[in-house]
Amino acid sequence: MLHGKLSKVPTHLAIIMDGNGRWAKARMLQRIIGHQRGVETVKRVVEECSNLGIRYLTLFAFSAENWFRPKTEVKALMLLLKHYIIAETKRMVEDNIRFQVIGNRPELPADVLHHLDEASRVTAGNSGMTLTLALSYGARQEIAAAVRRIAHEVAAGRIAPDEINDTSFAGFLDTSHMPDPDFLIRTSGEMRISNFLLWQLAYTELYFTEKNWPDFDRDELMKALVHYQSRERRFGKTSDQVKGRI
Ligand code: FPP
Repeated sequence: MLHGKLSKVPTHLAIIMDGNGRWAKARMLQRIIGHQRGVETVKRVVEECSNLGIRYLTLFAFSAENWFRPKTEVKALMLLLKHYIIAETKRMVEDNIRFQVIGNRPELPADVLHHLDEASRVTAGNSGMTLTLALSYGARQEIAAAVRRIAHEVAAGRIAPDEINDTSFAGFLDTSHMPDPDFLIRTSGEMRISNFLLWQLAYTELYFTEKNWPDFDRDELMKALVHYQSRERRFGKTSDQVKGRI
C-alpha cells in the first residue's frame, strides 16, 4: 500500500533488532521463542529490502556483550543462527544477495563459522543487495582493532603518522568496502546505539519504533522508509546549501 510512495530508499540500511525477549515475556513464552520469531522477521525484512532495491542491509544479530547472557540462551541463539544460515544460503544465491559477516569471528563456534563462511563464499559473486550480519560485534572493539592494525603499519614503516585521517582510518574498519549507513532503525522503544557502528553512524538518520522485532512487519518497514524520505540530510551544511540555493 505504501510501496508506491517510495521515491528514494536508503543505499545502506542498518537495523538494531531489539525486543525479542520482551515480545516473548508479554506472551508468557520463553525468550528463545521470541528469538525464533525474530528470525522470521529477519527473513521477511531481507526479502523486502532486496525487492525494494536497498543495496546494503546490515543487521545487528549478536553483540560482543551478548556473550554474557545465560549460557542456554547463547547456545540457543547460535543454533538458530546456524539453522538460519543453512536454510537461507540457497535463497540468497537465488535472490542474488551477497552475504558477509562483521565482528570478532574467532569467538564464534567453529561449526557456525563454517556455515557463515560457506554462505559468504557461495554468494561472493552476487551483484544484488549485500546482507551483513554483525556477530560478536562491538564498535569500540572494531575501532581498537583498526588502531592496532594501523600501529603495526606505522611500526613497519608502511604508513606515515601524518597520512592517518578520517578517510584512511575508515579503510581499516570491518566495513571498509561499504558506504556508511544512511538510515538506522532500532526496534522496541530503546533509544540507544549500544556499541553498534559508532564510527559509521556519524551522519546516519536515526529512527526508533516502539514495535518489538518479532512485530516489525512490512507496514512498519514501509512506515520507517517513508519517514526516511522526509528527512533532509545536510551533513553539516545549511538547508539552502543542500537545496543548491547558494
Ligand atoms: C534482541 O532482543 C535481539 C538479540 C540479542 C538477537 C537478535 C537475534 C535474532 C533476531 C535472531 C537470530 C538472528 C539471525 C540473523 C538468525 P532481546 O533478547 O535483547 O530482547 P529484550 O531486550 O526484549 O530482552
